[in-house]
Amino acid sequence: MRLANKTALITGGTSGIGLATAKLFLTEGARVAVTGRNETVFGQIIAELGNEALVLKGDVRSIDDMRAVARQVKERFGGLDVVFANAGHAFPSPINDIDDTLYDDIMDINVKGTVVTLQAVLPDLREGASFIMNTSFVAQTGKHGISLTAAAKASLRSLARSWSFEFLDRKIRFNAIAPGAIDTPLTSKWGMRPQDLLSMKSELAKSIPVGRLGTAEDIAHAALYLASDESSYVVGTELVVDGGASQL
Ligand SMILES: NC(=O)c1ccc[n+]([C@@H]2O[C@H](COP(=O)([O-])OP(=O)(O)OC[C@H]3O[C@@H](n4cnc5c(N)ncnc54)[C@H](OP(=O)(O)O)[C@@H]3O)[C@@H](O)[C@H]2O)c1
Repeated sequence: MRLANKTALITGGTSGIGLATAKLFLTEGARVAVTGRNETVFGQIIAELGNEALVLKGDVRSIDDMRAVARQVKERFGGLDVVFANAGHAFPSPINDIDDTLYDDIMDINVKGTVVTLQAVLPDLREGASFIMNTSFVAQTGKHGISLTAAAKASLRSLARSWSFEFLDRKIRFNAIAPGAIDTPLTSKWGMRPQDLLSMKSELAKSIPVGRLGTAEDIAHAALYLASDESSYVVGTELVVDGGASQL
């Protein structure tokens, strides 16, 4: 029970990486709250996580939403030991495709969303808490056609350093996880035809040194390490979990 007696909030915990992390944290003894915007899936998520978990509606871009989330978590569980600021938006963005909507979606959900999440939970973070950001392997190297997502994720990597310094007195650790190409529902939101999506995934898998896409569980295990006291000496860093894609 690596998270016994700990309370964790996972934003974007109703799908993919966030949902897998919520399941793992629960099996490791944590009290878990997850958030998402689409309430129609909440019944299914409660069925998967069990009644002990809290499933809350909130857009990470809205301070009112996130303060309401923080209030409900506090009422149910008390203070917070772990926050996985996981909610994010990744979308192809060749320079000529970037318009106001795409720019605002990518920058606001990733960057503003993480800033707002921290602002909302700050009063409830216990001394020694772990705050984990979700970045991406696309920010580790130059990549074609996804510059805006890479720039947003690079901002988060920087915030992990700055905030670790800013909150040294409260012993709050900020770290990031940079997932590689992970097989989650995320890319199904890109509007591709199913057969094109499948062939894109298969080509991508061949380009990864270990020969496969990552799973949401691969990232959940990295989050577990950063959430647990085993990583108490790990501060302001970014853990790349990408099958070697950006490293080899
Ligand atoms: N999959 C990959 O290959 C990959 C690679 C690198 C990094 N990442 C990062 O990993 C994180 C999770 O991605 P995933 O692959 O697990 O995607 P996913 O399956 O699409 O899950 C995204 C989650 O975020 C929530 N969300 C999205 N926008 C939100 C908002 N404005 N406010 C609150 N919740 C919001 C979604 O719920 P609602 O839609 O209901 O709000 C959902 O629960 C993201 O930050 C992503 O950039 C993923």
